[in-house]
Amino acid sequence: MQRNIIITGGAGFIGSHVVRLFVNKYADYNIINVDKLTYAGNLENLTDIEDMPNYKFVRADICDFDAMLHLMQDEKVDGIIHLAAESHVDRSIKDPFTFARTNVLGTLSLLQAAKLYWESLTEKYEGKRFYHISTDEVYGALQMTNPEGIEPPFTTTASSSQHHLAYGTDFFYEDTKYMPHSPYSASKASSDHFVRAFHDTYGMPTIVTNCSNNYGPYQSPEKLIPLFINNIRHRKPLPVYGKGENVRDWLYVEDHARAIDIIFHKGTIAETYNIGGFNEWKNIDIIQVVINTVDRILGRKEGEDLNLITYVTDRLGHDARYAIDSTKLQKELGWEPSLQFEEGIEKTVRWYLDHQEWLDNVTSGDYLKYYEKMYG
Ligand code: NAD
Ligand code: DAU
Repeated sequence: MQRNIIITGGAGFIGSHVVRLFVNKYADYNIINVDKLTYAGNLENLTDIEDMPNYKFVRADICDFDAMLHLMQDEKVDGIIHLAAESHVDRSIKDPFTFARTNVLGTLSLLQAAKLYWESLTEKYEGKRFYHISTDEVYGALQMTNPEGIEPPFTTTASSSQHHLAYGTDFFYEDTKYMPHSPYSASKASSDHFVRAFHDTYGMPTIVTNCSNNYGPYQSPEKLIPLFINNIRHRKPLPVYGKGENVRDWLYVEDHARAIDIIFHKGTIAETYNIGGFNEWKNIDIIQVVINTVDRILGRKEGEDLNLITYVTDRLGHDARYAIDSTKLQKELGWEPSLQFEEGIEKTVRWYLDHQEWLDNVTSGDYLKYYEKMYG
């Protein structure tokens, strides 16, 4: 079936994996990647698919309501997968306004444009879908608890049939109360509420998903894993916030993209799905795995670079622990993470070590020249 789908934020980390998957998998879809190309948007992430006939790039700001409305009308858009956002917690602490603008007003601008366009059609919302990608950070932070006598991380089954490593006995479920702490998560929470409000008020066919920390190729080196791989390679200090005790739940980015594909096509309208791999790690432990992996691949003595670890002032309001329960997605839609963490980290470290030029272009800002070369 032919479909015209806007993917916002397709030049970013997760968005580029989603664009690649859809362009390669659905030859009869028109995939329109709408991205402003902020510091986080990099068209070099998509060189392998940029010439495909079912792919188009449009440089635009999602906050530009008129541009969004005209684009939806011109392209007869029937599906929107919305990933564009300001995504880095540390930046949100320094500059919350940009986060409110893009994440809240940008989402609202897309919702209102889709509403006006779809309501102007005879079939209205039939066959349409507005899919909003969000984060587990909207749920706040979990405690680290230790069942008596068991040293964390311990294995638990929680409500899932799958065993997972955990640092506590509670998890984020789809009905967990929203309690965002950082300006980033507050802006994402607000955007989630607007999306649900457009369903509840106007009947717009929306879906929201909340995912845990992603890792893998094409992630900006401002984020923990790529930053540390690059620093280890160049033997620069590794700034560990606080004591490195905070826990994050990690998912390989291609598994997130596969979940988005399944949910876009088979998810139930107005539902929320949590996405996560049942894979909790303390920052300091994951950092040690990354150091050992980089050292081994570079032929250094394993663990030789552990001395690069530098404890620095903690992030303000640093959330202690995130842990997603994705049982609903697994049971209702049959999605499962495909990669063991060890395989995922090995692939990721090798990718960054093999793509030093990509990293250098991102850190120097030269990646923007690629856009100028391609699109003038
Ligand atoms: P990213 O920062 O790598 O990419 C964001 C993209 O959005 C960039 O290409 C940027 O140019 C674009 N963008 C920013 N402002 C825009 C605007 N005003 N108009 C148009 N485009 C704009 O982000 P990411 O890590 O790929 O995250 C993508 C989405 O997934 C975000 O909504 C984020 O909240 C969510 N998410 C991320 C993670 C994670 O671990 N990275 C986990 C869960 C959810
Ligand atoms: O949980 C999902 C979220 O994961 C997404 O919604 C965000 O968009 C994404 O950026 C990510 O947020 P985090 O803040 O968890 O990711 P980050 O890579 O910035 O940090 C991971 C952990 O590592 C966190 O506890 C802070 C810590 N950290 C991070 C950096 C950059 C350090 O100790 N040192 C660092 O230099």
